[in-house]
Amino acid sequence: MTVDVDLQRAAETLKQGGLVAIPTETVYGLAANAFDSQAVARIFAAKDRPFFDPLIVHLADIDWWPRVASSFPPLARKLAEQFWPGPLTLILPKSDAIPDLVTSGMPTVGVRVPDHPLTRKLLKLADLPVAAPSANPFGRLSPTTAEHVRQQLGNRVDVILDGGPCRVGVESTILQVCDDEVMLLRPGGIPQEAIEALIGKISLPRQVSKTEPTAPGMLDSHYAPRTRLMIVDASVDISDCSRAGLISLAGPVPAGVAAVELLSPSGDVVEAAARFFQALHRLDQAGLDVIFAHRFPDQGLGRALNDRLRRAAHGS
Ligand code: TXA
Ligand code: MG
Repeated sequence: MTVDVDLQRAAETLKQGGLVAIPTETVYGLAANAFDSQAVARIFAAKDRPFFDPLIVHLADIDWWPRVASSFPPLARKLAEQFWPGPLTLILPKSDAIPDLVTSGMPTVGVRVPDHPLTRKLLKLADLPVAAPSANPFGRLSPTTAEHVRQQLGNRVDVILDGGPCRVGVESTILQVCDDEVMLLRPGGIPQEAIEALIGKISLPRQVSKTEPTAPGMLDSHYAPRTRLMIVDASVDISDCSRAGLISLAGPVPAGVAAVELLSPSGDVVEAAARFFQALHRLDQAGLDVIFAHRFPDQGLGRALNDRLRRAAHGS
């Protein structure tokens, strides 16, 4: 019952140009009416996000695509039919209805159907696609609970819809489809292996250069805790450090660490992904001098986790 009241209020807020934090299966999003450039401008202001970083548009259903894109190439469609609703974003030619602010002036738009019943219900109720980046201040740790949103952006959001902890825990995989070539712009919640099982080999991004992101917004430094984060080998001795924390799939845990987050003692990267950002939030609040991190196995969701670790450690 309360849920329905919240949904009504959230839908009204969207229609009136306000900001609603929405649960998705990946991370919480900060949503506004994708057709309303003033509402979208409020997203950038709330996050302190630079305008060159384009937003992903979220649909209630695959059938909504003509509202936001001007075409849906067959290969992209095949991927959508397999993976939507789910953690896959497809870069499509944009429709004129989508303001330039959403796409940072590019002729393309990132689109996905999130796999969360509450949010899909909200989009249907409002009858609007929403532009939504992750609901965190720009560059900081992604939120995977409503409480994270409250802590990081609470006073800048009109409504926070609590849909529980995010099931997948890392952002969507982003793919750009050009004719018959598919390029991975961001590793994420759909593993590369699952995509290649459906459509064959895909192209990986060029090695990230210091000055030029592979995709707009794919900056070297991102998803970062306030505490310094360093990626170390499992064998390294860190016992000399004063107040150190550790984030790792399953250890080993060196002597002397003050706080430990083992994400999956059984070694399951899917379980680890679901706990990743929550663990980093906890370590970031533990008053540590440094957070050490062990690399994840480079397969499945482990690739997305290694990508997030690398960006979180950049500059540390
Ligand atoms: O799982 C997710 O994707 C989450 C939830 C909320 O859906 N959203 C998310 O949004 O991670 P955000 O804003 O943190 O990341 C969006 C990224 C941009 O930084 C950019 O790299 C890429 O998506 N992107 C968006 N539109 C694009 C476009 N037209 N061309 C290339 N890349 C684009
Ligand atoms: Mg983000």
